Amino acid sequence: MFTAAEAGMTRKADFMNDIVFCKISSETDEKVFDILSELDKSCVGADGWSAESFKSESAKDNGIVIYCYADMRIVGLISGYFAADEADITSVAVDSDYRRRGIAENLMAEFENQLPEYISEIFLEVRESNFPAVSLYKKCGFEKLHIRRNFYDNPVENAVVMRKRLNNK
Ligand SMILES: CC(C)(COP(=O)(O)OP(=O)(O)OC[C@H]1O[C@@H](n2cnc3c(N)ncnc32)[C@H](O)[C@@H]1OP(=O)(O)O)[C@@H](O)C(=O)NCCC(=O)NCCS
Repeated sequence: MFTAAEAGMTRKADFMNDIVFCKISSETDEKVFDILSELDKSCVGADGWSAESFKSESAKDNGIVIYCYADMRIVGLISGYFAADEADITSVAVDSDYRRRGIAENLMAEFENQLPEYISEIFLEVRESNFPAVSLYKKCGFEKLHIRRNFYDNPVENAVVMRKRLNNK
């Protein structure tokens, strides 16, 4: 567990002093996975992950799940994994009461910090209509690569595939 300041996060410092970011490990309480699933589903509906999915993602050697804790509750999460020299972000969600305070931006930065040095690119998919998320990813250095037609269900929608090339590679 680390505070935003310890992680070198400076944005919106007043609020960031009061929150912590935690990477899921084998010692994480089982209840956390249920809370992550509830948060994800409350943010993205049917696309949201189950507790079991967060648990299995974080149990992999190459899986990364980080949550943000503020006001004695979990208010944000990011998950993903890496393989070969690439990483994939699979979920990002922030409680609606805590948005536009820099939490997602800092979760993205922390995900990147946790990647091994040899990772050269990060990929993700996002619903074409999800303006807040596309804006977030662009701000974090991602560019639009291509469209995957009808990638999502409920409702059916195209996905935009986005990529970030890591500077240190
Ligand atoms: C997308 C989401 C994760 C952003 O979380 P957040 O903590 O509010 O984002 P941040 O405060 O870190 O925003 C960082 C930047 O992203 C962009 N951004 C975030 N929300 C935005 C919005 N509603 N409208 C426009 N731009 C937005 C802005 O550039 C913002 O920087 P700024 O505040 O300096 O303008 C959040 O809205 C959410 O959980 N949405 C529902 C779940 C979801 O869609 N997840 C992504 C699935 S692919």
